[in-house]
Amino acid sequence: MVSPGNVSRRTFSAGMAALGAAGALGRPAVAQGAALKVGLMLPFSGTYAALGDSIATAFELYLAEKGGKLGGRGVQVIRLDDESDPSKAVQNVNRLLSRDKADVLVGTVHSGVVMAMVQASRERGVPLIIPNAGNVAATRDLCAPTVFRTSFTNWQPAYGMGRALAAQGVKRAAWVSWDYAAGNEAAEGFRDGLKSGGAELVKTLLLPFPETNFQPILAQLAGLDIEAAGAFFAGGGAVQFVRDYASAGLAARIPLSGSGFLTEGTLRAQGAAAEGVRTALHYGDGLDNARNAAFRAAFKDRAKREADVYAVQGYDAGQLLAAGLEATKGDVDADKVLVAAMEKARIDSPRGAFTLSQSHNPVQNIYLREAKGGENVVIGVAAPLLADPGTGCKMAAT
Ligand code: BEZ
Repeated sequence: MVSPGNVSRRTFSAGMAALGAAGALGRPAVAQGAALKVGLMLPFSGTYAALGDSIATAFELYLAEKGGKLGGRGVQVIRLDDESDPSKAVQNVNRLLSRDKADVLVGTVHSGVVMAMVQASRERGVPLIIPNAGNVAATRDLCAPTVFRTSFTNWQPAYGMGRALAAQGVKRAAWVSWDYAAGNEAAEGFRDGLKSGGAELVKTLLLPFPETNFQPILAQLAGLDIEAAGAFFAGGGAVQFVRDYASAGLAARIPLSGSGFLTEGTLRAQGAAAEGVRTALHYGDGLDNARNAAFRAAFKDRAKREADVYAVQGYDAGQLLAAGLEATKGDVDADKVLVAAMEKARIDSPRGAFTLSQSHNPVQNIYLREAKGGENVVIGVAAPLLADPGTGCKMAAT
């Protein structure tokens, strides 16, 4: 085992114990020189299918830009459709690890499904990079040396949105979302952001994932004494919700806002219904930096469509893995060196450069955007360099 370096000064959690033993116990020995197997577990069907496709395409774009090698080692990608179904998650992770012998896991989109990946990473010491799912537990109570995220916590964008509304003078707002970790944790962020500016979350309205009969909730919303509504929906559900909100005639009276997923990768399908919707996210279409311009051009060339935040997160998962593998010269079993290099990485992302917090979650600007003419135009910064609180994470400061 190589010198622990940065990691040696951390408080070692159960996850680090698993990590130390992983090469001997949980993980099959990997022949050096053989391709590194990356298990890409994402939704390629269902309401989040487009999100999974963006992540996978951009991850593979990064690999292609590197000639198919990271840290000098060839990489083989194994795609698995998790259908955003938590009940199949454990079985799907086992398929990748036991049947396909994946050395690294990258996934997923859905906050419920990702917990099986986090558990496997903690127990078997397999490095995991989360390119979307915002479940706060992954980088709070259940944080672990082997668990990294290139996306966000559900709390982060919603906190930015609540804060921006309060700064605009809103005093009373409601939250609408699917009833699972992503929606509920975003509600907490929205509440905290509103509260930071002296405003109040007066009501949270929920429906089961991935239900899209929004009429009962829209009727309830119409009867509330509020000045703004915030929402978490994504993918196909977000398209439907924004259209139904406009059709219900609510947009003029109760301006619609939310975590940026509400209008991300969906604007073409939402059409005029999305015009003027304000959201907060760690990305915006027109961010003016060289990395973003090059990335958007390359992604469009490969995918024949515009990039979105999911693509950015997939691309950055490739960059983060590369940072680790460059330090170990492609050896994923040099656990501590790999972890230390990933912890220290400064990712030159299309969203702007970012680093990771002590709990392995991006510290990043949360932008305020407005949907205009089919683009999520950045109109300000809702929360600069926002870190998730990381509450309950036992990995101590280095
Ligand atoms: C989640 O389940 O964490 C999630 C899904 C889609 C977009 C954003 C978050």
